[in-house]
Amino acid sequence: MPTCFNLSTVSRLMSLLRCRLYFISSFNVKSSDYNSATFFANVSHFNTFQVAFGADLDLLSNNSPFPKAIEVCLKGMVYQIRDSLFQFNPKNWPFINEAREACRLLRTTGAQWIHERKTSMQKGEDVPKDILTQIIKTAATEKNMTEEFMLDNFVTFFIAGQETTANQLAFCIMELARHPEILDKVMKEVDDVIGMKQEISYDDLGKLIYLSQVLKETLRIYPTAPGTSRDIPGDMTIDGIHLPGGFICLFNSYATGRMEKFFKEPLKFDPDRFHPDSPKPYYCYFPFALGPRSCLGQNFAQMEAKVVMAKLLQRFNFSLVPGQTFDIQDTGTLRPKSGVICTIKHRKYKN
Ligand code: HEM
Repeated sequence: MPTCFNLSTVSRLMSLLRCRLYFISSFNVKSSDYNSATFFANVSHFNTFQVAFGADLDLLSNNSPFPKAIEVCLKGMVYQIRDSLFQFNPKNWPFINEAREACRLLRTTGAQWIHERKTSMQKGEDVPKDILTQIIKTAATEKNMTEEFMLDNFVTFFIAGQETTANQLAFCIMELARHPEILDKVMKEVDDVIGMKQEISYDDLGKLIYLSQVLKETLRIYPTAPGTSRDIPGDMTIDGIHLPGGFICLFNSYATGRMEKFFKEPLKFDPDRFHPDSPKPYYCYFPFALGPRSCLGQNFAQMEAKVVMAKLLQRFNFSLVPGQTFDIQDTGTLRPKSGVICTIKHRKYKN
């Protein structure tokens, strides 16, 4: 799967981003208040659809039903996990119907895209080396891979890559706007590395070290996928603690990221915790989970986050519109409750 996320990913991200930045630039001739969470939701929506699935942008207008469908599916998953009797309460039935509709939309869309891509592959046409192609190729080599299983993989990617990255970027802007000294430092790095260049290369991304630290610190305080679980197949003892087989262990990266035991002054936003010379957090920082079932899209996600942030920091100044709460909303993924409303202004350049 990592072959999908390579150098060409960066250039495809660049061209997609250009059209979104053009939109924000033209909208914001002087300065204006802008809901950055909505902007990032759109950006990551477009990026994932195009880069991962090669979907036609025309399908993805601002009235696209997909973001809402994804939100409803995630909510349904969380309600079910938190209350196992949820489905038996008649007052929840209208929502359950909505969630079923949302699942149906994602699965029928997946079936249609898989069918179209498979047909192109069978005809020997040139197809993008993206996740959709990879899902189909993998299915062809695995014995028990049914059509339903392929669709499961499709929907997992569809959902996994959307909200998480968008909300990471929104939280990142929120924290940068609250910490002007960190904003200045990261802007200086972006100026030094990419200056006024239109295109960001793969090599440039590697040089944006402080920006990486900022993004990692954002996920420490705001792990947008705040937890994970693992089945315990049989009795085991780890570090003297007995874990009975048949149980499920929940791991909460939101809690561990905010524990004094692991991070000094845990609520302070301090990207230097992730300085290359600082000690690495040891099993207490896992925004992408750990082990064989950790996030498959983490490299892509962080590449995407860096490209988007670098382009924004290159061109705009941000300040938060007063009166917003910095509350977090938990709908399966974490998001800023107030949406992060910013005043954005074009930066002035000295040539
Ligand atoms: C900031 C962004 C992201 C975060 C914080 C994040 C976090 C996570 C976490 C915690 C898991 C593990 C879930 C579990 O243990 O059950 C996961 C799984 C996964 N993620 Fe991400 N993710 C992000 C972006 C993405 C993107 C952009 C993609 C795809 C384009 C993606 C694809 C996946 C897939 C396919 C899985 C399932 C892996 C498996 O079950 O083996 N993720 N992600």
